[in-house]
Amino acid sequence: MKAILVTDQAAGKAGMKLVERPEPQAAINDVVVQVHTSGFVPTELEWPSTWTDRLDHDRTPSIPGHELAGVVSALGYGTTGLSVGQRVFGLADWYRDGTLAEYVAIEARNLAPLPDDVDFTVGASLPISGLTAWQGLFQHGRLQAGHSVLVHGAAGAVGSMVTQLAREFGAYVIGTGRAADRQTVLDFGAKEFVDLDHDTLEGVGGVDLVLDGIGGEVGKRSARLIRAGGTLVSIVGPVEAQPADGRAVDFVVESDRAQLGEIVQRVRDGRLRTNIGNVATLDDAVAALNPTERRKGKTIIRVRP
Ligand SMILES: NC(=O)c1ccc[n+]([C@@H]2O[C@H](COP(=O)([O-])OP(=O)(O)OC[C@H]3O[C@@H](n4cnc5c(N)ncnc54)[C@H](OP(=O)(O)O)[C@@H]3O)[C@@H](O)[C@H]2O)c1
Repeated sequence: MKAILVTDQAAGKAGMKLVERPEPQAAINDVVVQVHTSGFVPTELEWPSTWTDRLDHDRTPSIPGHELAGVVSALGYGTTGLSVGQRVFGLADWYRDGTLAEYVAIEARNLAPLPDDVDFTVGASLPISGLTAWQGLFQHGRLQAGHSVLVHGAAGAVGSMVTQLAREFGAYVIGTGRAADRQTVLDFGAKEFVDLDHDTLEGVGGVDLVLDGIGGEVGKRSARLIRAGGTLVSIVGPVEAQPADGRAVDFVVESDRAQLGEIVQRVRDGRLRTNIGNVATLDDAVAALNPTERRKGKTIIRVRP
């Protein structure tokens, strides 16, 4: 099969190569999926799990990509709940070969059925950004209707999902980002926009929840904005400053079939818009994942033409 491979951590995305690899085999409780489309998070090659296994042993060469939509082509020993020929989408294991390939072996529990009226490109854009937003708001952030939410990086893949889901839930959303993203963020449903290069974050006043997809100084300054009983949720690693009278949580997204179902249902009925920027073929994936200009929205690789 054709796959994108990385071998050299120092080279990062520039070291990606399109190569031939053996097709994967389904292990216990796995399925093999014929990948139609794959998502990719721009920071993925900085994650240790791209390079090592769970025992911290080198696992290169590895195939990156952790979001997919496709069709089940084989079942592993003892696998239930999915069938050969079924359309699926979901989140691949961080420590196994990923979805920038024609086939991937993946635990069935990491996948959900993809409804017939949702195309594969949309399907691959949802798992990481949709699940991270859902879990950040509703599990870790304990969002309630009427809360105010500050969303850092609100024009990005995760931030745009956070903005829309929080707004739908009845929260007052303040989005942040680059000056050029003001209208995009307001169009996703934020009531206010903070340009992080020119406005002061402190002007926001107090909020019940911060969803931080940027980190560093932005994260540290945000801790001071949390109201009593509020929460700072970081998706970019451990929180560096604690709120004086609130909680702080950092987490890594997990796959969840029921939540994938909730997310895709919102896309079908128009409550949720995906944030897809560029769509490229697997043959053009290395160039598409190494853009020379600022990209907006998620890059999706169409593996099957
Ligand atoms: N913990 C988890 O489970 C989890 C899950 C998904 C993603 N993540 C992490 O969350 C982060 C966001 O992911 P994503 O897929 O949403 O990325 P993305 O689509 O690139 O979105 C990030 C957004 O934030 C903006 N931004 C970044 N730094 C900024 C700054 N200093 N000032 C103003 N705007 C800034 C970006 O603008 P520019 O493009 O101009 O920089 C972009 O609009 C990444 O670090 C990713 O690794 C974590």
